[in-house]
Amino acid sequence: MTVNDDVEHVSSSDPECFMRIPARVFASAVLLSLTMDATAVDLHHFWDQTCAECHGHSAEFSRRFLTVRDGKLTGRRHKDELLGFLSNHHLPLELVIPVHDMLLAQASTGPQFKDRCGSCHDTAAALARDSLLIRDDKLYGKGTGRPVAEFLIGHGRLKADEIPFFVDLLTRVEREVHGHP
Ligand code: HEC
Ligand code: HEC
Repeated sequence: MTVNDDVEHVSSSDPECFMRIPARVFASAVLLSLTMDATAVDLHHFWDQTCAECHGHSAEFSRRFLTVRDGKLTGRRHKDELLGFLSNHHLPLELVIPVHDMLLAQASTGPQFKDRCGSCHDTAAALARDSLLIRDDKLYGKGTGRPVAEFLIGHGRLKADEIPFFVDLLTRVEREVHGHP
């Protein structure tokens, strides 16, 4: 049902119609926001569509403009009220926390993926979106069907003790793009 249907069905002689239309429209908007599943959103795709025109690549933005102090994310300008700022800044309410958490993780992580993997792979988000999946809490590559922790042995010139870092990074990004917490 569209808003127009609603309007047509309310008689103009009805004294309550003026109040009723906005209430019904409002109710369906609330219902829509409740039923829209934040966990089904590709956060990197959302960022690229909604935030990138002003802020560029998300991880580069986070590392450059945001800081983590005692686990808390702060902006250069918005220090104590970053969450409050984000609630009024181009974000639907249900994505404020997920996007905040993504920025927090990015600001806490260096550009290792870009430096070590970027010569062959585009972004970590693109790799995760196209080639990775989580099954039973474990990260797998779709191409080989193997656990990424095993696949990375001997891949990308990684030393054994560097592999867990990249598995954790790609596991986090896989969750961000495939929308599960
Ligand atoms: C139309 C341009 C525009 C878009 C689109 C936009 N922003 Fe911003 N953003 C700004 C500007 C300008 C500021 C600085 C405003 C201020 O300091 O009050 C800012 C500030 C921020 C800050 C705080 C930085 C700091 O140093 O305190 C964060 C975090 C942020 N934006 C995240 C986002 C996210 C997430 C999105 C997408 C959902 C987004 N922005 C979309 C223009 C934009
Ligand atoms: C010299 C180029 C090169 C570099 C550097 C590189 N990769 Fe790859 N990577 C590839 C190619 C080519 C494939 C696809 C073919 C394959 O499955 O081996 C791939 C596939 C993958 C896959 C998917 C595996 C699967 O099972 O589908 C993962 C995960 C991966 N790379 C992670 C990384 C990480 C993390 C780094 C950085 C530490 C990295 N790669 C660096 C070339 C590279």
